[in-house]
Amino acid sequence: MKIEDVKKIAVIGSGAMGHGIAQVFAQAGYAVTMKDIKQEFLDNAVSKVRESLKFLVDKGKMTQTAMDATMKNISITTDTAGAVKGAQIIIEAVPEIMDLKKKVFKELSDLSAKDAILATNTSTMSVSEIGSVVDNPSRFVGMHFFNPVNRMKLVEVIYGNKTSDATADLLCEASKKCEKIPVKVLKDRPGFIVNRISAPNQALLSAILDEGKMKPDELDAVMKKMGAKMAPFETADFVGLDVFCHTLEYYAKTLSRDYEPGNYLKDKISKNELGMKTGKGIYQWINGKAVIDTSKETTDITPIHLLAVQINEAVRVWKEGIAKSIQDIDDGVKFGMNAFAGPFTLASGMQPQQLADALNYLKARYKLSIFTPEPEIVDGSFKTIGR
Ligand SMILES: NC(=O)c1ccc[n+]([C@@H]2O[C@H](COP(=O)([O-])OP(=O)(O)OC[C@H]3O[C@@H](n4cnc5c(N)ncnc54)[C@H](O)[C@@H]3O)[C@@H](O)[C@H]2O)c1
Repeated sequence: MKIEDVKKIAVIGSGAMGHGIAQVFAQAGYAVTMKDIKQEFLDNAVSKVRESLKFLVDKGKMTQTAMDATMKNISITTDTAGAVKGAQIIIEAVPEIMDLKKKVFKELSDLSAKDAILATNTSTMSVSEIGSVVDNPSRFVGMHFFNPVNRMKLVEVIYGNKTSDATADLLCEASKKCEKIPVKVLKDRPGFIVNRISAPNQALLSAILDEGKMKPDELDAVMKKMGAKMAPFETADFVGLDVFCHTLEYYAKTLSRDYEPGNYLKDKISKNELGMKTGKGIYQWINGKAVIDTSKETTDITPIHLLAVQINEAVRVWKEGIAKSIQDIDDGVKFGMNAFAGPFTLASGMQPQQLADALNYLKARYKLSIFTPEPEIVDGSFKTIGR
């Protein structure tokens, strides 16, 4: 199949991600059908797309005619067969539950055209395992959008163990059609590229909270001063401490026991203090904003520590063959985390010793071996690997 042959996209699940995926493909001129289990969920999804487009019209970034055309491109249904009929690409965005995803893909595999591409938007789970129920799994692939879909540029296109190059290439083309930046993930490893690179910093935040020596505000104040739109602890609250903790548990099972979430997080969850969505988490949240005391900044943990952790993990991602190039790793982090630049670019001007010292300091202080500097950090060859 060529990209010109793609006329219709089906999106299965119309929640936070599904409605955003439907929107960006409809804006690109594709006929999109959203499927969900209840009509009210679909109606709500359509309202959200309308709201989002109206915002663009009000800002003068879209014409009313373009908005009307986009809305016309979207149809909704609770019937899977009707949704996938005539669709060349089918993207699943149902909740992150393995059995549910497998059940959905078994049905999609049976009902779709035999050459239709089947993609999962899973953020953490094994693409190969989800795709194991699909017949002709060469057409099965991961297509990981970032939240909010209408604003975040990155799409990770993830190879399962049977995905063909033709399938991955076509989804990269399709991502570009809706003005996204695709990055191929060559190996189906936990966290793919972007989430994997932020994983050890998540473990660091959990360790800082457990240690209790500094207020979370003190680190967030430093990062805010550096220009971060959202500081690390604030982001954890924004994502939801339950989701944050669940991700750490998954990495603890799949990558290293060092990722086991600490007592602070577990305690917060048992008290249902989950962050923004419950009004209280690490911070109090008032009118959608975290109350952060920026009057005191820590000098203990600096942005250099956070960057050292990131570049160290980026080196591991490269050595494990997960990314095609160093550029893809940098693009992934830049566009998937809304960062100023990727880790290889940011660390290029730094002294290897400074990064190694920062990592060894964290390793000694928090007793976590995931902070052990990779040899390429110590000898400075991270500046040339892959190039
Ligand atoms: N929310 C995020 O930040 C984010 C980011 C990247 C990827 N993801 C991934 O995207 C997927 C969806 O996440 P979400 O946040 O949009 O979830 P969500 O809960 O907001 O939406 C899921 C939707 O799927 C529907 N659904 C459930 N069973 C269904 C079925 N059998 N057929 C059709 N629809 C069904 C639900 O009714 C719901 O509307 C998950 O795999 C998640 O890990 C989420």
